[in-house]
Amino acid sequence: MGQEVPVLSFDAVVDRLLQKNEPYHEGYLAMYSSWYGGICTDPRAMLIPIDDHLVHRGDGVFEALSCVDGHLYLLDRHLDRLTRSADIAQLMWPVDRQRLIDLVKATVRAAGPKDCLVRLYVSRGPGGFSTDPYECPASQLYIVVTRLKSVPEEKLSRGVTLKSSRIPIKKSYFANVKSCNYLPNVLMTKEARDAGVDFTVSIDDDGFLGEGATENVGIVTRDGRFLVPRFDRILQGTTVTRMLELVQPLVHAGELVEASEAALRPEDAYNAAEMMIFGTTYPVLPVVAYDGRPIGNGSPGPWFRRFRSLMLEDARSGHGVRTPVWDDAHEPRGGNGTTSGQEGGR
Ligand SMILES: Cc1ncc(COP(=O)(O)O)c(C=O)c1O
Repeated sequence: MGQEVPVLSFDAVVDRLLQKNEPYHEGYLAMYSSWYGGICTDPRAMLIPIDDHLVHRGDGVFEALSCVDGHLYLLDRHLDRLTRSADIAQLMWPVDRQRLIDLVKATVRAAGPKDCLVRLYVSRGPGGFSTDPYECPASQLYIVVTRLKSVPEEKLSRGVTLKSSRIPIKKSYFANVKSCNYLPNVLMTKEARDAGVDFTVSIDDDGFLGEGATENVGIVTRDGRFLVPRFDRILQGTTVTRMLELVQPLVHAGELVEASEAALRPEDAYNAAEMMIFGTTYPVLPVVAYDGRPIGNGSPGPWFRRFRSLMLEDARSGHGVRTPVWDDAHEPRGGNGTTSGQEGGR
């Protein structure tokens, strides 16, 4: 006879939830849920109803952005992309943009640390288990704040490895939606882990370089061109887009010949002086080997160091790209918060 399965009362479920203390919960700092109508800081309560179509159909869109020294970095660009994603997915907005910003700030403040990662999810909402979006009365918003994991020092000093992916690339229409359907991206990350490399990069049907599972790539050619795969078939990253802007002074000074999008083949990368990875959580990493071939001299190069410091400086003191989370009315936890007087985001 099989083991008997208990039928649990609501209180018994809560009792069991209270016993869940998973080691990975340590990094979960706060969650806002429009379904609960508030913020919780106990990871055991960071739950989404299973009948939210986000859960059973991936019917939702999301964003991830960083909070650096108490300021949300590139907030407006992330919200613009979230809006585009929601429009393509034909999702109703659960709250207006200003309210969304207020909720993000409140959740970060409840989380505590001035450096953290913020994920926003707009879901179709609870309403049943079919694919029919009309069975959901109202879309929902979930905001999750987690600890920002620092990049292991050796990834910066020794570089990261990359391999071309065999996972079919998303069609451009869907590649441009940051939807919660990330199965291809998940498989790319698994592919990298299984192959013993740090990342894989997609190759499109015409043999051109695409993107990583959750990051963009770019190269600096031997004749000084900073080139990134064209954004028409991949998700346009906020990090790589900002990088293209931040290097403009180097182009004007003649140090770089150009900084632009281009149709790139793996061979262009094999022959590049340098190759890099760009994404919210890194934000710039040096690729030292791609498909088993060394890039440049096989170690992190000078462009990587310049690009990375430009980006880190921008996140700490850039003009018009930082939105303060704490203001006079909201003292940070521990009293060591942000009164750096930086401009807020647009
Ligand atoms: C598929 C994909 N490409 C690229 C990126 C990089 O975007 P960003 O620089 O905005 O983090 C992400 C990040 O979320 C992604 O999911």
